[in-house]
Amino acid sequence: MIAVITNDVMSYKEDFNKFLRWINCDLGSETQKQIASKVKYVFILGDLVDGCGVYPNQDKELEITDIKVQYKLCAELLSKIPRHIKLIICPGNHDATRLAEPQIPIYKDFAEPLYDLPNALMLSNPSIVNIHSSKNFSGFNVLIYHGYSFDFYFAEVESIRNNGGYDRADLLMKFLLQKRHLAPSYTSSPYVPDPNADSLVIDMVPDFFVSGHIHKASVSNYKGVTLISGSCWQSKTAYQEKVGHNPEPSRIPIVNLQTRHIKVLKFGK
Ligand SMILES: [Fe+2]
Repeated sequence: MIAVITNDVMSYKEDFNKFLRWINCDLGSETQKQIASKVKYVFILGDLVDGCGVYPNQDKELEITDIKVQYKLCAELLSKIPRHIKLIICPGNHDATRLAEPQIPIYKDFAEPLYDLPNALMLSNPSIVNIHSSKNFSGFNVLIYHGYSFDFYFAEVESIRNNGGYDRADLLMKFLLQKRHLAPSYTSSPYVPDPNADSLVIDMVPDFFVSGHIHKASVSNYKGVTLISGSCWQSKTAYQEKVGHNPEPSRIPIVNLQTRHIKVLKFGK
């Protein structure tokens, strides 16, 4: 099983604590506990903390304005996830690393407690990670991308904007797969050019394409690629109100790797 989480695990503490109880098989029906006992990977798709100074006047909305303290608390929460579960972590636009893509992994100087977690794998954004391989199986390739370029395409691509916009991450992810690039238009995301390779090109067709950023869980499938957008753990911010985000916090898509069937578990209202 895979679970996908993203976006500021500290804000909705009560809901996140419910998730932690569930993943420790201490909450839910017998079936739900059984699902929890089989989770092997938790994908954390960036924006682990809210950061500070990410948008104007953000500090007025924050409980903790020191990003090192934010990461310390975040790591304390993630340390409650059982150690046999791999935590696959990439940065987002709120994290302590460069904003330009490809984003290098979250800076260790700021987030040392995360690096101290023995089950955490700190990756760049985007990345391709291969999971679940064995002697007789080549594993699943998971394309992970936080989704900072998404805002541009929700606003600019008519067929997405007029068919639900921010509520339709599935349309957007399909659009990017068709373009075979995570930010196909120049200026859709800040970018560091590499003369040798464009790391935002979708070179290999992945088995899973997972993302975050828009704070609303969605799951779909495009030509055999499972598309998953993670939810969040915070309410609507003033900035989201302005740009038209409709967050739906405290949801976790769970994938059964045997059947590719997905359930979205709800840990809040
Ligand atoms: Fe984000």
